[in-house]
Amino acid sequence: MTDLIIIGAGPGGYKAALHAARQGLKVTVFEEEHVGGTCLNAGCIPTKTYVHSATFEEATERQQQVVEALRGGIETLLAHPNITLIREKGVFSDTHTVSGVTAKNIIVATGSSAKRMGQGLSSTELLQLRTLPKRLCIIGAGVIGMEFASVFRKFGSEVTVIEYLKECLPMMDSDIAKRLRKLMEKRGIDFHMGASVKSIDGQQVVFEQKGKELTAEADAILVATGRKPNVAADYAKAGFEYDERKGITVDEHFETTVKGIYAIGDVNGRQMLAHAAEMQALHVVNRIVGIEDSIRFDVMPAAIFTEPEAALVGPSEDRLKEQGVPFECHKSFYRANGKALAMNEAEGMVKLCCEPGEGKLLSAHIFGAHAADLVQEVTAYITLGATLQQLRETVHIHPTLSEVLIGVN
Ligand code: NAI
Repeated sequence: MTDLIIIGAGPGGYKAALHAARQGLKVTVFEEEHVGGTCLNAGCIPTKTYVHSATFEEATERQQQVVEALRGGIETLLAHPNITLIREKGVFSDTHTVSGVTAKNIIVATGSSAKRMGQGLSSTELLQLRTLPKRLCIIGAGVIGMEFASVFRKFGSEVTVIEYLKECLPMMDSDIAKRLRKLMEKRGIDFHMGASVKSIDGQQVVFEQKGKELTAEADAILVATGRKPNVAADYAKAGFEYDERKGITVDEHFETTVKGIYAIGDVNGRQMLAHAAEMQALHVVNRIVGIEDSIRFDVMPAAIFTEPEAALVGPSEDRLKEQGVPFECHKSFYRANGKALAMNEAEGMVKLCCEPGEGKLLSAHIFGAHAADLVQEVTAYITLGATLQQLRETVHIHPTLSEVLIGVN
């Protein structure tokens, strides 16, 4: 007997399976490819291996080892006595039946895929190249575009980025996004902002900027213009609402329009982040087994693993202004931090926004070495409803980068 069916063993699916199994549920997981999903096999983990490798050759070699080691770890965890892993595509035949298995509760965690454009490569395909492209053209200066631009430039490719908007990383504080782009320009990356791609013709990208038609020649073309949820035709048999572009419709508990069927991770189109999928998995299983939790899905940190990193939690200063929220903004710079100078990482900036009078913390947008770790600290404060004054009054080890946070003006 199965209590819970899970379709997809990416970060959302396998976390849900483990948590449910530990709570005593009998779980059946369907996975048609490798366990670990995009994040482990073709996303977060391989790209971080690239960031932490000195050469392209080292990166491509280590990528395989790191991915296989982690995949092995997940397979060991999934060998739990309460979990049955079926290595095939899970297909709905009715509301509670998937590929011949029936259960009261079902979690759909099928992820997302890259949007395609002409013969351009997806990030997954770019990671399969075994020869460093001499010229790389990237379409889109979002998270994937910026991460790949940074790392391929480090390996020695000539990188051109073509972006539709005026600035990179639209969700990031605009001052920080601009500083990051300028730094990458100094390193030799050629950015064409406010430019829209018309077509890809062999090794040529045709685009329009300020009314002029231009072309960029490249040995490899990466299309990083967003991802789309992986929805399948058999969902109609399950009966829940979904949209090809926006994904599966869910409520605040990630339940679809059919009771007992949930959709977590990229496929619900909410927050396309591995850690968002993992937390949604915990929440859904908690609901199924009757555990109350207080996970703050409105406090969702994110990081962009360029060199140096950029990271954020909460709305940017620009967004708070647009929303008309009363707030004050405090800044500090890495160049005034002893540890940053000792590490030769003087480039960096912190922006903290809080309610007036050093009140409740609202957001942190950071650019600089280990920005993701610094944002994590502020995430804890925001989750607990703490103020900037309380952050300032917390003792920080000297000398650490975290002192940049208490050094804000
Ligand atoms: P994205 O939505 O972050 O950025 C896409 C960019 O492409 C936008 O700036 C957009 O203006 C631009 N664009 C779209 N069409 C264009 C065109 N025709 N010509 C020029 N520019 C165009 O999407 P991205 O980078 O592909 O990432 C996909 C998803 O994966 C995102 O949700 C992202 O958050 C997630 N992701 C997160 C990572 C992280 O957290 N470190 C790493 C990688 C992906």
